[in-house]
Amino acid sequence: MNVADSELVGGILNSRGYTFTGELSDADVVLLNTCAIRDNAEQRIRGRLGLINAQKRTRPHLVIGVLGCMAERLREQFIEEERLVDLIVGPDEYRKLPALLDGAFGGEKGIAVRLSRVETYDDIEPLRTEGISAWLSVMRGCDKFCTFCVVPFTRGRERSRSFDSIVDEVRMLADKGFREVTLLGQNVNSYRDGGHDFAALMKAVAAVDRTMRIRFTTSHPQDMSDALIDAIASTDNICKYIHLPVQSGSDRILALMNRTYTASQYLHLVEKIRNTIPGVSLSTDIISGFPTETAEEHRKTMDLMREVRYDGAYTFMYSARERTKAWEMGDSVAEEEKSARVTEIVELQRGISTELNQRLIGTVEAVLVEGPSKKSDAEFMGRTDTNKTVIVPKGDLREGDLVDCRIERANAATLFGEPVRADKHTEGEAA
Ligand code: 5AD
Ligand code: SF4
Repeated sequence: MNVADSELVGGILNSRGYTFTGELSDADVVLLNTCAIRDNAEQRIRGRLGLINAQKRTRPHLVIGVLGCMAERLREQFIEEERLVDLIVGPDEYRKLPALLDGAFGGEKGIAVRLSRVETYDDIEPLRTEGISAWLSVMRGCDKFCTFCVVPFTRGRERSRSFDSIVDEVRMLADKGFREVTLLGQNVNSYRDGGHDFAALMKAVAAVDRTMRIRFTTSHPQDMSDALIDAIASTDNICKYIHLPVQSGSDRILALMNRTYTASQYLHLVEKIRNTIPGVSLSTDIISGFPTETAEEHRKTMDLMREVRYDGAYTFMYSARERTKAWEMGDSVAEEEKSARVTEIVELQRGISTELNQRLIGTVEAVLVEGPSKKSDAEFMGRTDTNKTVIVPKGDLREGDLVDCRIERANAATLFGEPVRADKHTEGEAA
């Protein structure tokens, strides 16, 4: 979400003549886009700001700005008390950036942190930095008010972009050669524009170019409609992968979290998804150590994970956020206990992911080649339809190729494949 927002800011500034530099020492303006979801995200920004601020001693004209979710909460501290930054701009005020920058070059401090009920940046073309896979925000904000979550306060009310502008943007992306689009929203499946729901949007987007992969994230189980499940099942180029955060396996904790489903309702949903979309891969988010979570309730989360057998899970230690309902419940689980629970969950998931991935050894998967592998110059990194990372030898492949690969090895996080050539294929069959 923040990468997409940064690209949006890039688009706004690029249209006013600003260009990107990868070198801090070349920059006249440094903007940090921030996340407030957990406290450690905030601490990281503080560290980074300290480093950038050191540059100001030798370059007093450097303009430093903080964007995004931390803006509203930290504006007083950052601008007035600590005088760390020149600009603070919240997620709905990016259109003001060029004017605020003009002011900042003249020595003014700028603050714009109001949330909007309507801003969707419909008409702004993001400055995308990658050529294969594009992020596309289709809605902003969230009305779910999970009691642990700061998003409804930092990003405001839910609002959807217009159906037509999204379909047009996907057409433009296809024309530019993008091979994959991920539709984004805090709660993407509650998208609605007039008569169009998210299922209708997915179908329309997928119809733009049948060779383009379509993904989406992130989904609230409550809004996972039958129409959406059917659309995924019946549309070849909609990827068979759903990120479906469960957060906890305990009904008492789920109720305290205001998640609006029970563990058994969630399991029924998973069953329906698996029956309708054969081979679908599923991932989840889990919070460990929500206020008052007992060891027994933690075990219930592990039981649910064993039952679902997710392909992947992101696990977080509960982090109390001011303004949320859970903030008032106290932060009763000790940090060491939270950390021990997270470790158990991560280990359980590692075992499950390894088993599921190793079952793929010997199968052939269509891999979209996305870019260089981080570990080796001789290899590319790509992904399967089911969102699994695959490392392949470069050979004569190019970024953007969709190539059939035979899976040779696998661990919890990665598959290793070899392209299956048409000629090799025939050889194999002849033998
Ligand atoms: N503490 C820990 N994790 C959180 N998340 C959201 N808020 C918090 C919090 N206060 C997690 C949820 C969500 C993911 C994006 O971040 O699991 O799905
Ligand atoms: Fe936060 Fe997601 Fe819940 Fe919205 S649905 S309040 S973004 S956890």
